[in-house]
Amino acid sequence: MLVFDRVTKRFGANTAIDDASLTIRPGVITAVIGPNGAGKSTLVNMAAGSYCATSGRILLDGVELQGLPKYKIARVGLGRTYQNIRLFDGLTVLQNLEVALVPRSLPRLIAEALWLAPGGVAEARVTSLAVLRRLGISHLAGREAGSLAYGQQKLVELARAIVGRPRALLLDEPAAGLNHGETDELKAHIRALRSPDLAIVLIEHDMKLIMSVSDEIYVMNRGAVLAQGTPAEIRDNRHVQEAYLGQPGAMEHIETAARGRRNRVRVRAGEGLAWGRA
Ligand SMILES: Nc1ncnc2c1ncn2[C@@H]1O[C@H](COP(=O)(O)OP(=O)(O)OP(=O)(O)O)[C@@H](O)[C@H]1O
Ligand SMILES: [Mg+2]
Repeated sequence: MLVFDRVTKRFGANTAIDDASLTIRPGVITAVIGPNGAGKSTLVNMAAGSYCATSGRILLDGVELQGLPKYKIARVGLGRTYQNIRLFDGLTVLQNLEVALVPRSLPRLIAEALWLAPGGVAEARVTSLAVLRRLGISHLAGREAGSLAYGQQKLVELARAIVGRPRALLLDEPAAGLNHGETDELKAHIRALRSPDLAIVLIEHDMKLIMSVSDEIYVMNRGAVLAQGTPAEIRDNRHVQEAYLGQPGAMEHIETAARGRRNRVRVRAGEGLAWGRA
């Protein structure tokens, strides 16, 4: 269980997260939605140790994460993907996963010695390959991450986030920039990840994806939790729609924003992806 307990985060005069409390339960997929700047990524960045909360507690299975370095947070059981892909472009796909398990900065012998099981480095390779197979990208294992298409890089990020068998998995806009087919594939992977001992947080603007895979939804607005409920409750919550952007039909605005984001991503990536929802 991942708990944000009355968390506040200030950047100077800007309060990005304002006394927010969320409980992310294992066994279900919890979506976090909200307009641009609502504070969704800030939640992930605080949990993963990129930012320190100004006040409040963030607990994973009862362990306070605030103040721990990133690698310890990962070891406690937190896996995350980034809104903007962060892979080691010059390393192979397989190496990108292995470094999540065995710090490459360590000489091999020391890594072997520190690793939990004997022959750990070899074991890391086997584990990494198994995860790549699971996501249908084992044929990319030897390719340089930087040479892959955008959609493939997004899958490698997902692979890297799950290779350490996290207890909480935080996905920050995993579908952004993906085409129709890739989004469907991602949806199947996310569904397949649902398991009794994994708490999944899905941040997305793609409302179709959110409504079809999530069990529970938190709506964030200006750093605060505006509403919480099942997809049906949130969809039918007129209060959410009105408060969200100040008018009914606000959910469609989010989808429009998501489409705009996709188009921007395409321009940046310079790839001939097909945008089925334009
Ligand atoms: N490193 C930072 N320094 C200063 N302000 C920041 C920083 N990171 C985030 N913020 C601010 O915190 C607020 C929340 O940003 P955040 O990125 O969490 O929003 P978001 O909900 O993820 O938005 P989006 O949907 O656009 O990704 C914004 O006002 C943003 O400008
Ligand atoms: Mg964000």
